[in-house]
Amino acid sequence: MVVAVRGFRIFVFLFSLLILGFYLFSKKHDHSDALLSLVNSSETSLPLAWNDNTIPETKALLHKLPGLTVFENLYAYNGTIYIVTSEPDSIPEKRMIISNGLALEFKQENEPTDQTLQIITPAEARLLFGPALAPNFLAGVSFMQTDAPQFLGHMYHFVVEIFALGHWRHFTSPDLDTTFGSTRPYPRRYIFPYASHEQWQDHAGMNLWTIRAALGPIALEFKDEWKTWMDSEQLLVMEHVVLGDRAAWHRGSFWKSPKEEFPLVVRDRWWDPIRNSVTAFVEPADVQANITQKPLITYVSRQNSRRRLKTKDHNTLVSELELLCQIIECELQVATMEELDTTEQILLLSKTTVLVGVHGNGLLGQLWMEPTPRSTVIEIFHPDGFTYDYEYTARSLGHKYYGIWKDKYFTAPDLPPQNVVDGFHGASIPVNGTSVASLIHQRLTMKSL
Ligand SMILES: *[C@@H]1O[C@H](CO)[C@@H](O)[C@H](O)[C@H]1NC(C)=O
Ligand SMILES: *[C@@H]1O[C@H](CO)[C@@H](O)[C@H](O)[C@H]1NC(C)=O
Ligand SMILES: *[C@@H]1O[C@H](CO)[C@@H](O)[C@H](O)[C@H]1NC(C)=O
Ligand SMILES: *[C@@H]1O[C@H](CO)[C@@H](O)[C@H](O)[C@H]1NC(C)=O
Repeated sequence: MVVAVRGFRIFVFLFSLLILGFYLFSKKHDHSDALLSLVNSSETSLPLAWNDNTIPETKALLHKLPGLTVFENLYAYNGTIYIVTSEPDSIPEKRMIISNGLALEFKQENEPTDQTLQIITPAEARLLFGPALAPNFLAGVSFMQTDAPQFLGHMYHFVVEIFALGHWRHFTSPDLDTTFGSTRPYPRRYIFPYASHEQWQDHAGMNLWTIRAALGPIALEFKDEWKTWMDSEQLLVMEHVVLGDRAAWHRGSFWKSPKEEFPLVVRDRWWDPIRNSVTAFVEPADVQANITQKPLITYVSRQNSRRRLKTKDHNTLVSELELLCQIIECELQVATMEELDTTEQILLLSKTTVLVGVHGNGLLGQLWMEPTPRSTVIEIFHPDGFTYDYEYTARSLGHKYYGIWKDKYFTAPDLPPQNVVDGFHGASIPVNGTSVASLIHQRLTMKSL
């Protein structure tokens, strides 16, 4: 009797399971059919997988400057970046690629450890990663900067040094034509594994604005986003990465002097795509066509800031430039950048032929000037002071550059040594306005252009 009841119960139980199974099975089918009609599985399927096949190897596609390397198939797993290669000699020295994401003053502590980056063989990778039918494949191009937050939240360091002269100039180098052909897919994501969104934002919000205007729908991944990948113990494979690291840049030799041969092959008009996107972002194309024919001189006034000209010299400079535009064809704008919104600034700068100003952020505006035989950047320093920041930027973008010491000027290749003299950041920088106007006169009336 007991046995029969038990048998019946087991029968009921198994029967229920069977019914439930049928129900779930048909449900699952409904569900996946519905999904299939929404998602094209051949488009979402991952283009990279290995089972018993060999693991795709990492290639260093370009490495001409310290701290800037372009990779194909770069791996990341549990907080460590892996280079999988059977030819370790083809990979640059580790310390010239990356650091541990610490501030620059921690020199010894920033020498890359095995926790940060490891170079392993495909056999080691197979043991570590196992067979992967579906690693997380980050398709397309990623820009990645493995810096401490230290310099990221500053427009000059991020937009000019890291984005423009770093990632973008490398990404557009003809050396990568063998991989991409002569055109490039836009990068899909920017990754900052050691900085939060807030740490990356400069006080004026220009880092975010510039990347949005320049690269549109790019994804931004910060410390938390990256940590979530790494904590998940999922394997990531990045198809193409332009990897920058500031501490690694500093381990190499100084290459900003015009007397050094620049090691990277640079594409002609390499910055145009970004300048065009940004100017189009602020101004519809039909307005752009109606640019004034007169050369525009923009003098960026810093008289409301800490580092500025002597008041008398500022006034003379303005009146001398006004006088100049009565003698020759030109238009003058005296701009106090903090009084203009971003759109107005970019519009003004995109039409500027000659940009004049005291050393400082205002000279970043040259990014949006069109490089032509006449385009000129004039930087006023306290006499004997000089730093390469805006000179190197101008030379790289294709603008003629002059540094001014009161009534003297200098230009590449004859540049003074870097020197932050007393008064460099002061409020009484002298300048001879007549000399500056006469230099601009020369530039705007040069015949042989
Ligand atoms: C799904 O994507 C593949 C590859 O892009 C394409 O060939 C195919 O026509 C697509 N199928 C549907 C139903 O859209
Ligand atoms: C991940 O890394 C941590 C810290 O280095 C280590 O303790 C842990 O064993 C690693 N986990 C796996 C699955 O490799
Ligand atoms: C630009 O100039 C063209 C022809 O000179 C004119 O038709 C057009 O309306 C102008 N566009 C704007 C926005 O002023
Ligand atoms: C500025 O330089 C001009 C020559 O270029 C000179 O005649 C003039 O005296 C100088 N002005 C001052 C205030 O030094």
